[in-house]
Amino acid sequence: MREYWLPALLSSELPTPSGRAIRMKLLGEKLIAFRSASGQVAVFMEQCIHAGVSLMFGSVEGDALRCSGHGWKYGLDGRCLEIPGEPPGSRFIEKVKQPTCPAIESGGIVWAYIRWGQEPPELPAPKWATLPLDQVQIDRQSDARNYLDVLDALTASSYVARFGAATESGSEGDAGPRSSPVGSFRVPFDPAPQQDADSPSRLRVWVPNDDSNTSVWTISWRTGTWRTGDPPA
Ligand code: FES
Repeated sequence: MREYWLPALLSSELPTPSGRAIRMKLLGEKLIAFRSASGQVAVFMEQCIHAGVSLMFGSVEGDALRCSGHGWKYGLDGRCLEIPGEPPGSRFIEKVKQPTCPAIESGGIVWAYIRWGQEPPELPAPKWATLPLDQVQIDRQSDARNYLDVLDALTASSYVARFGAATESGSEGDAGPRSSPVGSFRVPFDPAPQQDADSPSRLRVWVPNDDSNTSVWTISWRTGTWRTGDPPA
């Protein structure tokens, strides 16, 4: 799963340049995200590598974040830019780098790639991400269950639906009901969304926050005007 770009936050959750950092979890990693003065989004490991203070309490200064613990200042790529009290001529600062994740905004979502130290692939550019934001609806819910429990329930309900339909129609014949495939599942996304001229297209994404919490993203879009009566995302 670390090989995928994952949806981390709605862009609207980081509305203000130089606003406060916010805390989040993805794949069990404790992270913070913030928007710099120039509007760029950055995702850092939450604990400062100096002494472990949470960078959620840090302050955004230009295109950098200053830790509230001892004032070390990190650029958007995690490189240390300033260590208060360091003697002149010291090159220690060159060795200091706060772990960061590549982060990109696209389609109203902040995407993060949390395979530490690895170059990310290009962010896929699905059609919905290129549409005007008023043609896209994005909803994120929290599910207080393990990711695999969520998927287990999902595939079980798919099985029940197919099993029930087959039994009611009698298509299983005298041999009685048999198991039915649940279809494909593309981790961490569901099967490719169908294009239907009469209803919005929809994509669902399940992202583990930690062992007992999962984010459920629903992205709905229309290539035309969003119509009154369209189902909510
Ligand atoms: S804990 Fe962050 S600078 Fe010391």
